[in-house]
Amino acid sequence: MTIRVSGDGSAGSAAHELQLLVDEMHANYASVTDGEVATYIPELATANPDHFGVCIVTASGHVFAAGDCDVPFTIQSVSKPFTFGMALEEFGHERVWQHVDVEPSGDAFNSIELRNGTNRPHNPMINSGAITVTALLHQHHGAATFDHVLACFSAAAGRQLSFDRAVYESERRTGHRNRAIAHLLLNFGLVAEDVEAALDVYFRQCAILVTCRDLATMGATLANMGRNPITDDGVFDVRCVKDMLSIMFTCGMYDYSGQWAYRVGVPAKSGVGGGVMAVVNRQIGIATYSPKLDAHGNSRRGIEVCVDLASRLGLHAFDCLNVGSSFLGGMLAEGSTTRVR
Ligand code: DON
Repeated sequence: MTIRVSGDGSAGSAAHELQLLVDEMHANYASVTDGEVATYIPELATANPDHFGVCIVTASGHVFAAGDCDVPFTIQSVSKPFTFGMALEEFGHERVWQHVDVEPSGDAFNSIELRNGTNRPHNPMINSGAITVTALLHQHHGAATFDHVLACFSAAAGRQLSFDRAVYESERRTGHRNRAIAHLLLNFGLVAEDVEAALDVYFRQCAILVTCRDLATMGATLANMGRNPITDDGVFDVRCVKDMLSIMFTCGMYDYSGQWAYRVGVPAKSGVGGGVMAVVNRQIGIATYSPKLDAHGNSRRGIEVCVDLASRLGLHAFDCLNVGSSFLGGMLAEGSTTRVR
């Protein structure tokens, strides 16, 4: 298919190729109905399994949305690259790295283990690493930590976000595995004594409510070198964005990260709330929302949509026909002829 964009290529234009594409993704993958809604946090079980949204926000601030893109859900693990970025920005690479490594674990997101040799969490995308990162922020900001996190996420999303108290309380009540991880971290001196307070911030951070549109905008903020492309708000330093995207590329999809890199080839992060956020550097943020998960804890439809989008738009970082690295510049230029496969 040859893309021709006339006029300003603005969002909402029925003729825009990206709008047609997200509409098609939504129509094609609504038929994927396997997978299970997460129940280990009891309140997550109340999610509507049919909800399905697909959204692309470009690094120039255009929005293309299909399906349930304004339904709020909890961000869960998609919060992890953002708190990691905050810690990098505030404490620097070296100090953060003294607490958490940057190696894929190949294990489940909630595994209770530290890395042999270093006794640090493998990476900041799994629960042990993310709790460590939040505890670092908590050591510095104390009682103000959650407000600080919420303000940063809100800036990345371009609107004031809030959190879901019922989901937060549900995880706080039942999150014994995370509590075990936190105490393991305390045993190795990776977090401070008030580990319960840090864990409380982690549970709240995971319960921040976003929509599929918000997640795509947060992804576009990373794609746009840390600057929200809609509000023009500078959220992350460009050097931290590089670190955030690197760790999302190698570790963002847990023990599916290798297959994801192979099949999709762009940095991404999933959450058990059903969100997936992917980033195409300097081009677009992609988000999907569908709460039925596979055995790794990744959204079933989210994976399928991203595999298809990456193939159709040529997004894979190592595709030698990689139109993805330049497709948008061509696409938004008047009369351009960028190819979608
Ligand atoms: O800590 C937990 O288990 C959840 N609050 C977040 C886990 C999560 O989202 C894993 N994602 N696929």
